[in-house]
Amino acid sequence: MQIFREYKIFMTDKEFINKYNTDGMVLVNKLISTSLIKQFKNEIKIAIQKETEFHGSNKHKDNGMILCCVKYGGSFLKIFENDKLFKPFELILGKNCIVYSNASSSMPPRKSNYSKRIHIDCPIDYPIDFPLRMQCLILLDDFTNDNGATWFLPKSHKLKEKPNNSFFYENAKRLNAKAGSVFYLNPRIWHSGGHNKTDLWRDAFTIVMTREFCKQRMDIPNIVGKVNINEKAKKRLGFYNLIPKSYKDYYERK
Ligand SMILES: [Fe+2]
Repeated sequence: MQIFREYKIFMTDKEFINKYNTDGMVLVNKLISTSLIKQFKNEIKIAIQKETEFHGSNKHKDNGMILCCVKYGGSFLKIFENDKLFKPFELILGKNCIVYSNASSSMPPRKSNYSKRIHIDCPIDYPIDFPLRMQCLILLDDFTNDNGATWFLPKSHKLKEKPNNSFFYENAKRLNAKAGSVFYLNPRIWHSGGHNKTDLWRDAFTIVMTREFCKQRMDIPNIVGKVNINEKAKKRLGFYNLIPKSYKDYYERK
């Protein structure tokens, strides 16, 4: 039997798939090292400054969020080489799945953000036994009730309609977990961000994967350009799923 991770709690591939399909979400602890978390937090700060330069001010609607983290290279790109992180995606979406999007999700001090509403992240209604997308939330800080830990409603990926507020908040669980944890979820799980009551930013970022025949949110290979990453990472970023640019290009790839 294959084991997809080697930490405190062992979980077989089959157990992961069963839990994911039943609950629509699975938390894996300690998948990202402390040193890598530090790098990500530094790179997020730098990327947010560059986003401010790009938009001309910090008054734009996505302030504090990086919509395409891989654009900034560094650890955001290197993480695509991490087989342990991507194994669960490949169990659910197949070996050839590619990235759909990769955004940061930071909660400012004493505030909330765009995530504070009951919502799903994927409005596409696909067959429950053939999911088109799957995502993970990579925690760069401990998520606590004080800093706005997200509410998730278990099994809600099977709901046909949005749950009402009282049902949601009576049944949803808060994601209280340590930095370095990775929370895998079906993007059709109903969830809502909390409110950060602390004086510190709370950082996280998401990776959304899709089937290899689906469109990406942005043309990621074009945005990333020439990069020094391994073949598996390139495959995950969609470098080998590009539409031929011309008739000639089609035949040259054969
Ligand atoms: Fe969301």
